[in-house]
Amino acid sequence: VAEWFETFFDEVWIRRADRAAEAEFLRRVLHLRAGDRLLDAPCGDAAVSIHLARRGMLVTGVDRLASAIAQARGAFAAQGLPGEFEVADLRALDFTGYFAAAFNWYGSFGYFSDDENADVLRRMARAVRPGGRVLVDQPNREWMLRGWIRHSRKGDLEIDSRWSPREQRAVSRWRLHGPTGVRECRSSIRIYTPAQFRSLFAAAGLVDVEVHGHWDGRPHGRRSPRTIVVGTRPRGRGETP
Ligand SMILES: C[S@@+](CC[C@H](N)C(=O)[O-])C[C@H]1O[C@@H](n2cnc3c(N)ncnc32)[C@H](O)[C@@H]1O
Repeated sequence: VAEWFETFFDEVWIRRADRAAEAEFLRRVLHLRAGDRLLDAPCGDAAVSIHLARRGMLVTGVDRLASAIAQARGAFAAQGLPGEFEVADLRALDFTGYFAAAFNWYGSFGYFSDDENADVLRRMARAVRPGGRVLVDQPNREWMLRGWIRHSRKGDLEIDSRWSPREQRAVSRWRLHGPTGVRECRSSIRIYTPAQFRSLFAAAGLVDVEVHGHWDGRPHGRRSPRTIVVGTRPRGRGETP
């Protein structure tokens, strides 16, 4: 049986337009400088990290969707920006100590089992050099549960969602009404609280964990829409900053 994320992003994921503000937030909280190597995983069409490439950062993007990787390559090439892109699964990330920062941006975490999600974070932590930062973004669970939208329809897209308290996952059915009929997809995303994220980050060996509430700079709280967690891979003894 195919897993939901193998088809979902090809079928119903809607890419958003201007993403410069998100990139600027990442630049700030990850303390990025020109020349820094970044891992954007999963990168989608790299519409966020292209803004960082314009500021001189060296982007490596990974995504399992070949069409998104092709788009990312095309966009970078059209602007003469260096960038390396690879079609790969997040669960197979295999870099060691190479990047200044690694980020899993915009609701791209929690797709797998709990153990696999923890392993993805460990792989991201391993990918950065000592002193490097790792960032994960999710919707804020409390905010989401409080304003839960069970059903919505926007144009051709109809979404039904439920919260599974047992699995702590947001489970949705997406139906796209088209001229040739209805295409149906499902998604199932494990949503972590800040406290759970702190445990996951600690288990991945990350320290100095910060939690932000939105890329507009809002602190995290009951009413902030996002849970954005940043941690640092500690420097070993004798390593210089
Ligand atoms: C919500 S999108 C976000 C993409 C990007 N971070 C952004 O902000 O535009 C999630 C991405 O995860 C990718 N994806 C889903 N499952 C994956 C997997 N198992 N391994 C790698 N990428 C995956 C999808 O192809 C999609 O591009």
